[in-house]
Amino acid sequence: KEVKLWGGRFEESVTDAVEKFSESISFDKALYKQDIMGSRAHATMLAHQGLMSNSDRDIILQGLSKIERSIDNKEFVWRTDREDVHMNIEAALTDIVGEPAKKLHTARSRNDQVVTDLRLWCRDAIDKIVSRVKFLQVALVTLAKKNDGLIVPGYTHLQRAQPILLQHLLLSYVEQLERDAGRLIDCRNRLNFCPLGACALAGTGLPIDRFMTSDALGFTAPMRNSIDAVSDRDFVLEFLSANSIIAIHLSRLGEEWVLWASEEFGFLTPSDAVSTGSSIMPQKKNPDPMELVRGKSARVVGDLVTLLVLCKGLPQAYNRDLQEDKEPLFDSVKTIMGMLEVSAEFAQNITFNGNRIQKALPAGHLDATTLADYLVNKARLGSFLVIIARVVTIFRRLFSQKIVLFIWGIPFRTSHDIVGRSVALCVSKNCQLLGLSLHDLRSINPVFDEDVYEFLGVENSVKKFSSYGSTGSQCVADQLGFWIDKLNIS
Ligand code: ARG
Repeated sequence: KEVKLWGGRFEESVTDAVEKFSESISFDKALYKQDIMGSRAHATMLAHQGLMSNSDRDIILQGLSKIERSIDNKEFVWRTDREDVHMNIEAALTDIVGEPAKKLHTARSRNDQVVTDLRLWCRDAIDKIVSRVKFLQVALVTLAKKNDGLIVPGYTHLQRAQPILLQHLLLSYVEQLERDAGRLIDCRNRLNFCPLGACALAGTGLPIDRFMTSDALGFTAPMRNSIDAVSDRDFVLEFLSANSIIAIHLSRLGEEWVLWASEEFGFLTPSDAVSTGSSIMPQKKNPDPMELVRGKSARVVGDLVTLLVLCKGLPQAYNRDLQEDKEPLFDSVKTIMGMLEVSAEFAQNITFNGNRIQKALPAGHLDATTLADYLVNKARLGSFLVIIARVVTIFRRLFSQKIVLFIWGIPFRTSHDIVGRSVALCVSKNCQLLGLSLHDLRSINPVFDEDVYEFLGVENSVKKFSSYGSTGSQCVADQLGFWIDKLNIS
């Protein structure tokens, strides 16, 4: 057996079981690019500081490039007995270039090395995820663009609530994704500080220049406290939290689309390219990709929980437990990348069933709240001039409730009650609000006028929305325009 890089004080080699149990090379080899990048910066700094000759530095840099190429080409042999990516690369460098390689680990520990690698890796991973988030946003905005004017039922408690524009609904997901990207970018900014040079935990007495390595690796600055630098994985926690929130958003989108693809809803049809069949039921066409998006969100949350529990009992500074941070991190990133990609593909491959949606719209009294607003607004218009204009009516019903309401206004609670009773009348007559005659409505309250019919029915109802951010056509067109500009969609 080869003597370990740390073998000096040991008389016996580790048992096979311990070696197998402790290795991380099987997964941390994913960090090789970052590890080599860190070693390049470190060697360059050591030579600049007179801690290594320029010729040794050049030999090391050439050796590292050779190793990188051989890993790229899958020719490199990873050895479990060399434990992890750091020792595999350092030992291979010694195999290739001999003595000079032994200077590379000057003023460095695997403790600052691994966390430097990890921060560099997270930085790249975040950039990739952010671009996938944008890709999904583009897919959703494009889908919204294609479905101009389509009204769908809006739900609360999964019960019919109010009519909304489908575009408005789709753009709500785009907004959530924007915050998701923002969280990742915040996390990236916070993690972009350099631990290299913290060494094992205490720093070093050798004349290194931490600012130089930090700059060379594109970090904002070296981390201020060497103990903190090697101890914490809060940046991984933050990253996995941001991923978990994305996963939850996508899971909700998945749930909605799976529901909408059901026979019961029938609001959307995924194309064959994003559907799968059943091995027993020949008729089946299942929206599996979005079910799996929903399902895989569990893994992403699980990865976060693993890391939270991993960190909770650790005293400062580095503890070997921290080796367990990598698999959840890698899994979370791989899973979220897949979820984003497939959600975007699904968005590109669904059609909304206008006819089916149209048929569904009359049920559920979606216009009831608009009617309640009509009453409030009507009373609000009961200004002096309006009263004069309606002088005939006023004389006829001088002491009726109507005149009182006109003068004092209808409080929303009262209008809620009036509309509630109108809906009850609809239920007993088995009709929609639109189906009630003015006589029916006036039997509930005399305040109703002929103009009430401009507020009933989903089309009229949607037209009445005008508040900022609402489902009114102009508001939604403004939102859509904003996203088309922001995402550069043609
Ligand atoms: N493979 C280890 C990890 O991933 C590298 C650091 C090991 N340091 C140590 N002193 N054993 O955390």
